Amino acid sequence: MTKKPLHEDPIKHIVWTGDRLRVLDQRRLPRTVRFVTCRSAADVARATRDMVLRGAPLIGCAAAYGMALAARRNRLKDVRAASALLRRARPTAVNLMHALDHMLSVAESCPEPSLSAKMAAAAVKYREDDLGFNARMAALGAALLRPDSNVITHCNAGALATAGIGTAVGMIRAGWLAGSVAHVYPCETRPYLQGARLTLWELMQAGIPATLITDSMAAHLMKTRRIDAVIVGSDRIAANADVCNKIGTYGLAILAKHHRIPFYVVAPSTTVDFATRRGDDIPIEERSSREVVEIFGRKIAPKGAAAHHFGFDVTPHELVTAIVTEKGVVSPVNGANLRKVLRR
Ligand code: MRU
Repeated sequence: MTKKPLHEDPIKHIVWTGDRLRVLDQRRLPRTVRFVTCRSAADVARATRDMVLRGAPLIGCAAAYGMALAARRNRLKDVRAASALLRRARPTAVNLMHALDHMLSVAESCPEPSLSAKMAAAAVKYREDDLGFNARMAALGAALLRPDSNVITHCNAGALATAGIGTAVGMIRAGWLAGSVAHVYPCETRPYLQGARLTLWELMQAGIPATLITDSMAAHLMKTRRIDAVIVGSDRIAANADVCNKIGTYGLAILAKHHRIPFYVVAPSTTVDFATRRGDDIPIEERSSREVVEIFGRKIAPKGAAAHHFGFDVTPHELVTAIVTEKGVVSPVNGANLRKVLRR
């Protein structure tokens, strides 16, 4: 089979037209391809909160465009208000705060009459940077894998979650092209099913051999088949290099350790939060229990059932074999090495 080349932006899921942002509604995938139009920062905040768009780097890129939309009347006070609004959209992915801080600093340093043009240019650049980060991480990460690896991934850390080819899935795509990835097992990722709905969709479109597993099958797979690596993204990495990612990641890291399987995290520098000392200090989003007791609007638990919905968990850095960033590979994984690679 001919392998499809590595397009940097394989899915046109976020389209900036200068006065609006069109985003692919990820809640409806893979069944329906429908776009939502954002004309204001409030629209972008709503789309982010409601999971129309998701994935840490993409949340940051969308927020940058949201700030550009807020600047259209050349008023700094609109931009400041938009920053406060967007900041509350979701609590865990620090890329959101990184993008807002960056855009706010652009706004504060430019005269009001040129605000709109400067902010639009800065948002476009912010997104292009993420695209470049993806490409660099993919190349660095793929080189870590041995030939014909079978890998497990979790959630969706693919093109849909970023501006480029993805973080974890970007590494997988580059590995597939280079012959270091043979087969991918995406975990379905209960309760939001990003693995089943989004990652598998992306992998199938790219022609990469993939077999879906439920989250609870990972241990059995690691014991009974040859699994060479677990590769995931991240929503926030603390100063001590603890890694926060989609709920279920911590369990996978423990399983990987037990089975002596390398556990790789692929994340750009915009995901690293040196202001948060340890992973346990990262705010963990708690979403509606409805998303756990219902699947696509259908109740699967008894009426009145209580349920937890933790969106994320924290993997202690000791369980991580390497963190792949666009600036280099952090290994052994600890705060000092993280700082050294990111030159902070
Ligand atoms: O709740 P989501 O779908 O926004 O969570 C996404 C994840 O946890 C991803 O693994 C993470 O953002 C890395 S994406 C490159």
